[in-house]
Amino acid sequence: MAAFGSVFMPKMALATFENNQWSEASLVSSDSIQMHPGAHVLHYSSTCFEGLKAFRHEDGSVHVFRMDQNIKRLAQSSRLLSLPIIDEEQVKKMIIDSVAEFASEVPVPPGSMYVRPTHIGTEANVGKAAGATATSMMYILLSPVGDYFTGGAQALRLLLDETGMRCAPHMGMIKSGGNYASALGPISKAKVELQADQILFCPNGDVQETGAANFLLIDGNEIITKGLDTSFLHGVTRSSILTLAADLGMTVTERDLTVAELLERAAKPEVEAVLSGTAAVLTSVGTFIHNEKEYKVGTGEPGPIADKLRLALNNIQWGKAEDKHNWLTKVC
Ligand SMILES: Cc1ncc(COP(=O)(O)O)c(C=O)c1O
Repeated sequence: MAAFGSVFMPKMALATFENNQWSEASLVSSDSIQMHPGAHVLHYSSTCFEGLKAFRHEDGSVHVFRMDQNIKRLAQSSRLLSLPIIDEEQVKKMIIDSVAEFASEVPVPPGSMYVRPTHIGTEANVGKAAGATATSMMYILLSPVGDYFTGGAQALRLLLDETGMRCAPHMGMIKSGGNYASALGPISKAKVELQADQILFCPNGDVQETGAANFLLIDGNEIITKGLDTSFLHGVTRSSILTLAADLGMTVTERDLTVAELLERAAKPEVEAVLSGTAAVLTSVGTFIHNEKEYKVGTGEPGPIADKLRLALNNIQWGKAEDKHNWLTKVC
């Protein structure tokens, strides 16, 4: 299969915000959009997006996972970036209508249809460095996907970075392109120089997240992850995994975690570490790289609790377990 996110459905739902109101949404070609070269997004990065998935069940029906949470986050990102307020009902309909249009293209599990709502500032005005865009565009790209990490079930190598940070501390909870651009330099360097798969950003020892996923530590019956604040993205997968862990009788602890504590706990053979995200699902971490030393996490291999939690999540997404928390929206 082609690389994650590089194949698109030929049409997308699109709406524009002009004269203080949203237009009707329409299904248009996804080959290109038209924008003035002075558009606000191209200069001042007024952009945010979402990532969610639609799944095919065995009976052929198609379901979107936790769409309401992603729409809420898109509304929050838009508000915090001074983009126009989104119409949440309209975005919901745009997602459902576009997925329904391409329902026959939704891959069977473990594949899915990745849904990428995108909101950008379009006002042609390079004088608005410190002003909000008056106009914007919202569109919903669709991309059929398989596994995100090409390494498959192999445990990841993470560089623990205590000096850098992924993005400005007040921006972490916003899903915006600038945050990814900000992290790209250090991640590329860690890949080339240390063969790291990702950086776990831990400014001043505070364990936060990687470039595109949240971080969770599993120590026996307890799952530990940083409590929500503005510094990192509030992952929908993170929240789902914490709910499922509690359902399975695990102790869920949301609190700050230091690098020192992380390395101490990682030395225990039963400890597991995982990354969570819509794309990554739940991917095991086998090695930490810290101050030029390598530390095995537990056995260094993917662990049984990560497997159990991933399966619990996948079973709901794939329609093989009861959707107790009403996380699925049936599209068709
Ligand atoms: C920086 C970052 N953190 C965390 C996540 C996980 O969020 P979610 O579980 O909502 O996909 C993502 C996206 O996948 C991300 O890009």
